[in-house]
Amino acid sequence: MRTRYELNDGWKFSDFFDEAMTAPDFDDQAMKTVRLPHTVRETPFDYFDESIYQMVSCYRKRFTVPEEWKGKKVVLTFEGAAHEATVYWNGEAVTTHSCGYTSFTVDLTDRLNYGEDAVIAVRLDSRESLNIPPFGFVIDYMTYGGLYRGVSIEVSDRTRLADVFLRTEGTPVAPRLVTEIETENPDGRNVFVRQLLLETSSGESPEEAEGSVLTPRLLGTFYPDAIKRAGNAKAEFRCDVSHIRLWDVDRPDLYMIRTELLDAASLEVVDRVDIRYGFRFAEFRTDGFYLNDKKLRIVGLDRHQSYPYVGYAMPASAQETDAAILKNELGLNAVRTSHYPNAHSFIGACDRLGLLVFTEIPGWQHIGDDAWKAQAVRNVEEMVREYRNHPSIILWGVRINESQDDDALYAKTNETAHRLDPSRQTGGVRFLKKSHLLEDVYTYNDFVHNGTNAGCEPKKNVTSDVSKPYLITEYNGHMFPTKTFDDEEHRRDHLLRHARVLNDVAGEEDIAGSFGWVFADYNTHRDFGSGDRICYHGVLDMFRNAKPAASVYAVRGKENVLEVSSSMDIGEHPASNRGVVWIVTNADSVRMYKNDRLLKEYFPKDSPYKNLAHGPIAVDDLVGDALIEGEHFKPAQAAAVKDLMNYSALYGWDKLPPKIMAKAAKCMALYHMTMADAVRLYNKYVGDWGGSATVYRFDAVKDGKVVKTVRKCPFTKVFLEVRPDRTDLVERETYDVASLRIRAVDENGNLLPYFNEPVSVIPE
Ligand code: GAL
Repeated sequence: MRTRYELNDGWKFSDFFDEAMTAPDFDDQAMKTVRLPHTVRETPFDYFDESIYQMVSCYRKRFTVPEEWKGKKVVLTFEGAAHEATVYWNGEAVTTHSCGYTSFTVDLTDRLNYGEDAVIAVRLDSRESLNIPPFGFVIDYMTYGGLYRGVSIEVSDRTRLADVFLRTEGTPVAPRLVTEIETENPDGRNVFVRQLLLETSSGESPEEAEGSVLTPRLLGTFYPDAIKRAGNAKAEFRCDVSHIRLWDVDRPDLYMIRTELLDAASLEVVDRVDIRYGFRFAEFRTDGFYLNDKKLRIVGLDRHQSYPYVGYAMPASAQETDAAILKNELGLNAVRTSHYPNAHSFIGACDRLGLLVFTEIPGWQHIGDDAWKAQAVRNVEEMVREYRNHPSIILWGVRINESQDDDALYAKTNETAHRLDPSRQTGGVRFLKKSHLLEDVYTYNDFVHNGTNAGCEPKKNVTSDVSKPYLITEYNGHMFPTKTFDDEEHRRDHLLRHARVLNDVAGEEDIAGSFGWVFADYNTHRDFGSGDRICYHGVLDMFRNAKPAASVYAVRGKENVLEVSSSMDIGEHPASNRGVVWIVTNADSVRMYKNDRLLKEYFPKDSPYKNLAHGPIAVDDLVGDALIEGEHFKPAQAAAVKDLMNYSALYGWDKLPPKIMAKAAKCMALYHMTMADAVRLYNKYVGDWGGSATVYRFDAVKDGKVVKTVRKCPFTKVFLEVRPDRTDLVERETYDVASLRIRAVDENGNLLPYFNEPVSVIPE
């Protein structure tokens, strides 16, 4: 049986490398003691140069090899070493791995000095001059260095399961589990395979499920001849699993599949591999994406795995929080891990939450020389082998993001992915229309929307083969960078652009769905971003605080959403014209009040975004019945004056179109009103100057009840709102973190976007 030891504590780190540091007896006291995940350089929030994390550094870890490991197979795993790592075992270089985004192992079995101290040293090169993906030209994201995921050692019998790959075949009503195993059996032990399905309430591993009842169910026992013979072997077997519930986005049922190698004579369990698995059928067809034979529109965002200050180095809990934000706060059903595979803790959370994943090999536009390309093909192999048991992954990205056609290279990457995983289709993200399609799905970054035109192109304009499926993999992004502290119109227009694209994609029956650029703002290279090394393309900011655009997605979730795009402060706007205010909600209606007087009730059908269940709704009445009640106007006069006032409030006095001018003329001729009347009425009912403060209240109503209220009025006090993602820190594989999302808000909980005071957090 195998045991896993986490090796994340007590590493020594130096931000420069000297060959001498690899020697077991090197005096490493002067090196810094660190824990993994670790970044080679903590970075400022903004205005820093990408050269600061580019270095050749050294990590060292000393430990005692237990006597009990004698005769065992011992494998060391690095989950993420950015970007080229040479591993030394007791001073001897044992492997070099050249991808910062896939894991790799070192077989230590025949190198162990039982009962003695051993030293692992790593020469880690995080320079962007490396001749490996994604390097070679410019890149729109920072590529931070470090041992930024975990390191572990697994100790098992020498007869063992070297790999277990699970996939589902058959049909949704009659699914079968297919298992491919790779075994090592140096002594030719007479072994056979037993497979069990363990049902846990929420898909935790049996160890984590302590206390919850696990029901084991025998799936089958298998006696492939090949695995009994001395040496390495492969075998494949199938079991009927018609009794299981399928995994899907609304109900992501997971099971623990236990695959065991047993000694035929003693029935002793020689090795055991537990995999948390979900059975599902995922298929892109000509007309869209199907999950378990049901059509599902993919609505997702792209995600970078970076965080402020620590770059890539965040433990599991932060990864899980991102997945939870995507699924629960933003109501998405999918994420693209642009532009490289993300941590297993992130993808594992996607498995548990029911969030579909499109993952891809590292790269950004540039294709290098033959050695570089060979590494790209290796990256496909490593990615597929490493991640193929995650049910959430539905598509492999096997092209360098937005690269040119290269049929020879992409024939290889496609072949590799298909050979290693016959159950999944391939895609490859491009900005080229009608480019060579060697993949199963045409995946395209559609940046056509500019704020005034259609949200997306029709499929036939883009793909080179309309019989193949089509998926949009990016939109918006650089078309409209938006800061949390941009002016209100800008933040509003960002929201509307996201709504427009979602709406128009939803109107195209044969587009499988879309991923928007991007989940959160991120640090980037000097060639991109706003000059401060930040790309403000996020629906959230770098700290995962929402911009208004997030509401367009959030309405898809379970929480009640009510977002009003304006603070209602006229001075924020040119010529003090508030412009059109938009309401985003998933309620049945929204009642808008001014100083407790109902102005209007808005309904989903009022939204011009007809393909969205909850599209943004424009506020078009700031007056209501006030003129009848306050001025005792007759209905016709009240209506004409109201139109005039509403129009000028939204667009200004100087831009009245003929239709509104005609109403003005009517008011003057028929009701003998003067310009002075107009100014007085405007100031009284719309202008909001003087007198007591105006309070605009928006009540979201669901099933006849007010479920959420937004109140907009001049602030009197600043509050700090602090939202922790967890309140307990638990050390498991390594240290734990909690995120505190801090926002300055007024007494009504409205964000104060221009509050720019520093906040200190003082640990106890
Ligand atoms: C795409 C690219 C992304 C990001 C985005 C910005 O071309 O794939 O990485 O740079 O543009 O909109």
